[in-house]
Amino acid sequence: MIRDDVQLRYGTVAMIFHWVIAALLIANIALGLYFADLPHSDPWKFELTQWHKSIGLTVLTLSILRLAWRLAHPAPPLPTGMYWGLRVAARASHYLFYFLIVAIPLTGWIMVSASPLGLPTRYFHLFDWPNLWFMADLHRDQKLAWHDTLESVHNTLAWSAIVLIPIHVAAALYHQFIRRDDLLWRMLPRRRARLESAQ
Ligand code: HEM
Repeated sequence: MIRDDVQLRYGTVAMIFHWVIAALLIANIALGLYFADLPHSDPWKFELTQWHKSIGLTVLTLSILRLAWRLAHPAPPLPTGMYWGLRVAARASHYLFYFLIVAIPLTGWIMVSASPLGLPTRYFHLFDWPNLWFMADLHRDQKLAWHDTLESVHNTLAWSAIVLIPIHVAAALYHQFIRRDDLLWRMLPRRRARLESAQ
């Protein structure tokens, strides 16, 4: 009985990855939408860009670690009795999230590495995060072309996350409060889950 219960929940490390990455991703979307529209003359633009890049590179690092962890620790099975179409949608959206949490920051990193301006990335003001080496030797026009393409890709992927996040949250709430299959509690710390299910 206890063993089944353990297997049906995410482990502590998976939960920490999930909630930390989710919080940083949402914060960085808000920051990105705000600073991208500021005029270049605004003194805050440079500082906020630095924070955006630092948070994004943290998400990239954590997401790679999370993927490695996930490969070694399979997710608990989906609740029983789910219509097959919903199962496919659930699995597809999870894979899409794994793709986005790596692809969004990676395209941001390639974009700034291609920028002909060559501005530094001061990681939380601690050290200079390097640009990607394969952009360094390109001609200025090639860099500009890469930068503009990557900017569009970065923005489109970020907008995909903006659409996907509310769908993901709505699906979790639907499971928890309408289907009542306790799906949300699988991703919450044990003590809280116990307390809630006891009520
Ligand atoms: C969690 C990861 C990230 C998220 C969710 C994210 C999200 C966003 C969003 C929503 C925008 C504004 C898009 C728009 O105006 O429509 C943006 C712009 C930008 N991001 Fe990111 N980003 C991430 C990581 C990064 C990283 C790692 C870098 C660079 C190292 C970066 C560099 C930039 C830059 C330079 C812009 C401004 C582009 C412009 O001027 O239009 N981002 N990002």
